[in-house]
Order: sequence, then structure tokens, then C-alpha cells
Amino acid sequence: MSEKIAPQDTCVLVTGGAGFIGSHTVVELLTRGYQVVIVDDLSNASAKVMDRIKTIVGEPAAANLTFYEADVNDRAALAKIFDEHRPSRVIHFAGYKAVGESVSKPIEYYANNIGNTLTLVDVMREHGCKSIIFSSSATVYGDPDSLPLTEESPKKPATNPYGWTKWMIEQILTDLHTADPEWNVVLLRYFNPIGAHPSGLMGEDPKGIPNNLVPYVAQTAIGKRDAVHVFGDDYDTPDGTGVRDYIHVCDLASGHAAALAWMNGRTGVEVFNLGTGTGTSVLEIIKAFSKACGHEIPYVVDPRRPGDVTANYADCSKARDLMGWEAKFNIEDMCRDSWNWQSHNPDGYEG
Ligand code: UD1
Repeated sequence: MSEKIAPQDTCVLVTGGAGFIGSHTVVELLTRGYQVVIVDDLSNASAKVMDRIKTIVGEPAAANLTFYEADVNDRAALAKIFDEHRPSRVIHFAGYKAVGESVSKPIEYYANNIGNTLTLVDVMREHGCKSIIFSSSATVYGDPDSLPLTEESPKKPATNPYGWTKWMIEQILTDLHTADPEWNVVLLRYFNPIGAHPSGLMGEDPKGIPNNLVPYVAQTAIGKRDAVHVFGDDYDTPDGTGVRDYIHVCDLASGHAAALAWMNGRTGVEVFNLGTGTGTSVLEIIKAFSKACGHEIPYVVDPRRPGDVTANYADCSKARDLMGWEAKFNIEDMCRDSWNWQSHNPDGYEG
């Protein structure tokens, strides 16, 4: 057993805490009374999110947030932050995440994602901090043999370097626990996070042309893009388009808080799917978003995107049974909140 600590006495270091999922998770943690230290190099995030987080949580929780602009690969900077704050838990979000880019930049992806994880866990070990929650992905399941996906479903070879980094980091953290059973590792496999904070103050802010469906739909809805490109309508699904398990980013955030509470006082390695258990097609997303924004969203059908699977959705009963966590928001809520964010912040945080 590791030491059990109350939230107000727990300092959680959050790498990548200025990013999309990270920032929503930080709000959830501050609201629950944790002390939070964000380490983010802002390579794919904005410092402006700090003020938004503080506005949402208000005082006194806002005073429990500290932000360092630093790269997790910068060992000296990270060690200094650990010396200063002595965090007892780490949530590790920081990493590159564009699938297509990872194919053309494998060295950068492996060096950054795996390199920063190795630096992080080494610094953690040196400071006696052995509890980590890692942002993994349903991508580790590859093309599934059967649905829904449970945590027991086999991991499949990844189809791109981004996916391999998630796959390998899961293995690295598992090996760490084998070598030293005092480690406490939670691997959270996210399905497709979308939505935004209901306040409209925080949301996804992709740089350049969005790779993922919902940010692209949102930018089309606001008129920045001409039409959504539907990647294939000849899949073996009810309407022929790809099916995914979309989850509201606030549900994902509460999943991290649930994991933090659950891992308190434990050791071991545990994997949890974080999804809703419901599959939604590309056309259903376009329809739901059209309803949220109040006008039709144009789309064209393109060929399938290489590497895409037909369908995936999660069985989330393990997270419910062990951590007492369940997703609360449906697709309508997710599209409403994405639209609220997009329409109030057409140019993201820098607008
Ligand atoms: C992708 C990654 C996954 C990663 C996740 C992060 C791949 C193969 N997988 O998931 O590893 O963890 O993002 O959020 O890239 N679609 C369109 N038009 C678009 C964009 C997407 O039709 O412009 C379709 C896709 O074919 C798919 C669905 O929308 O059926 C969702 O795509 P996307 O949002 O990119 O997520 P995933 O591919 O599921």
C-alpha cells in the first residue's frame, strides 16, 4: 500500500495541463480541493488558459494552481519543480498527438513522447513519487475483433508512431511496476474526447487544419472551412460512415479525478477505458452539430482515410464498478458545448 492522502494535502503535478484534456482535468482537480502544478511547454497550448481555469474555479481554489512553462524533457527544470513542490501524484498528458504528423516525423514523436516519459519517471523515482496516471488511447486496441472493447481486449500493433508511443509507454510503466512494486500506475485509455467546458471559456484549440472530426465540423459550422470531408461512406456500419465512442471532455476530466481518488493508498497497474459505451457515426455527428448550431453543415464524401478502423466503442463497466465513474453527457451535450466554445472563441485562445 502507498500512503493515503487527503485531496487538500495532495499536490498533483500535471504535465500538459494547459492542453485540451489537461486544462479540463485541472479544473476538476482544483474544484475537488487538490493542489495542482502544471508543467507545459506551450508548444500546443496557450498560457491564456490559466486565467480561464482560475475564473472557472474561483477563489480559494484558484490559489492552489501553479504553472511552469517548461518542457518535461528538461530534466533540470523538472527536478527543480519536484524539489520545490514535492508532488505525490503525477498525471502525464504532455506529448505530441497528431497521427498523420507522427508518420512523417517518427524520430520527433518517439524522442518527445517516450523521452519525456522516461525523464519524468526517473525524476519521480529520485523524489520518491511513484504514483502516475497516464493518458493512453483506444488506439492501442487497433482494429478490434469484437465490440465493445473491454480492458481485456487484445492490444494490437499500432498503425502509426503516435499509436506506438501510447502502446510502448503503457509497457514502460508496467515494467516499472514489475521492477518496483511500490509504483502505482493507472493507464486511462481514452476513446474520442470532444466537447468543451459548458462555460464556453475552455475548449479545443487546434493549430492549423484540424485532424480530428469534431474540431473540423466546428470550424465548418462557423464558416472557416467550406465543407466537412467524410472519410468513407462504405464501411460496414448502419449509414456506412465510421463509428466512434465520443466522450465529453468534462466526463474525461472527472474520470481522472475518479482515478486519483481510487489509486489513493494503492499500488499496482490498472487499466481503465474511458468512453460512454455508445457508438456514433460521422453523419450522426454532423447532424447533431447542425442541430446545435442551428443550420445545416455542408459535407462531401471522400475516400477512406488510411489507418482508420470501421468502428470502436468501449465497455466502461470496469471504471464504473471499481472507481464509481460513469460518463454523464450525451452527443447533444457534447455538440452544444463544442459549439458554445467555437462560436464564442472563433480563433481559440489567441482570438
Ligand atoms: C484519432 C486517432 C487516435 C487518437 C485520436 C485522438 C487515427 C487513426 N486515430 O482517432 O489514435 O487517439 O484521434 O483524438 O487517426 N473523420 C472524417 N473527416 C474528418 C476527420 C475524421 O470523416 O475530417 C472520421 C474518421 O474517419 C473517423 C471519425 O471521423 O471515422 C473520427 O475521426 P477522428 O476524430 O480523427 O478520431 P479517430 O480517428 O477515431
